Amino acid sequence: MQLKDRVAIVTGAGQGIGASVAKAYAREGARVAVIDMNFDAANCVVHDIQAAAGQAMAVPCDVAEREQVQAMVDRVTAAWGRVDILVNNAGITRTAMLHKMTVEQWNQVLAVHLTGSFNCLQAVVDGMMARCYGRIIYVTSAAGVLGTIGQINYSAAKAGILGMTKSTAKELARYNITANAIAPGAATPMTQTIRTDERFKEKYLERIPLGRWAEPEEIAPVFVFFASDASAYVTGQILAADGGMTIH
Ligand SMILES: NC(=O)c1ccc[n+]([C@@H]2O[C@H](COP(=O)([O-])OP(=O)(O)OC[C@H]3O[C@@H](n4cnc5c(N)ncnc54)[C@H](O)[C@@H]3O)[C@@H](O)[C@H]2O)c1
Repeated sequence: MQLKDRVAIVTGAGQGIGASVAKAYAREGARVAVIDMNFDAANCVVHDIQAAAGQAMAVPCDVAEREQVQAMVDRVTAAWGRVDILVNNAGITRTAMLHKMTVEQWNQVLAVHLTGSFNCLQAVVDGMMARCYGRIIYVTSAAGVLGTIGQINYSAAKAGILGMTKSTAKELARYNITANAIAPGAATPMTQTIRTDERFKEKYLERIPLGRWAEPEEIAPVFVFFASDASAYVTGQILAADGGMTIH
């Protein structure tokens, strides 16, 4: 058990990659706070974890809302005493060609990915600094590295997360807190359209050297690595678990 007795917060854990990460962390012995705007979905994940004898709690929270984030972290800390691991995974897309994108679409995406990650970071960091231990895991994307047509908002947010990762890593290294980012690629509700729509699916598949989409369960071990002592001397790094999409 690589995460025995650790306390982890995983945002956007009601489905997709976050749900797989929450389940993998619980299997590795962590107590997992399953955070999502969709409370029913978060509760389902907690149910699955508990059915497999893991420890988890669901907390409804919109990560873009600072007060909700503080209340969520207070709840986790009251229940389990501390937070050791934060996974800033919650994400949305609001896709539109840039000449048609509304400022609302721009702001919504930045609010969830950038402000949401920042809110969660600030809510947990004091405790991590006091205990001189922490693992911060950000989620970026090939879009942040390569850019994507129709996703100037998402690409900007995910590129911003690369900067956040490196700044977090440099600033918190002296407290024995690591910060790394994962650029995943997986079959989740977020990627459903580009995986199934005839207009996109072949084009996107061609961009993946391994020639297939991963299941979220195949990505989760990378999140375990960055949360565990196996990565104690790794910080400020970006690891793409995307079938080779970002080879360049
Ligand atoms: N799936 C991929 O191939 C892929 C590729 C690159 C990056 N990513 C990133 O990975 C992360 C997870 O993606 P996914 O594919 O599992 O997405 P998903 O849409 O399947 O799941 C995202 C989850 O986040 C939750 N969420 C959205 N906004 C929230 C908010 N404001 N507060 C709390 N929860 C919120 C949703 O309710 C949902 O449960 C995202 O950051 C995404 O940008 C995914």
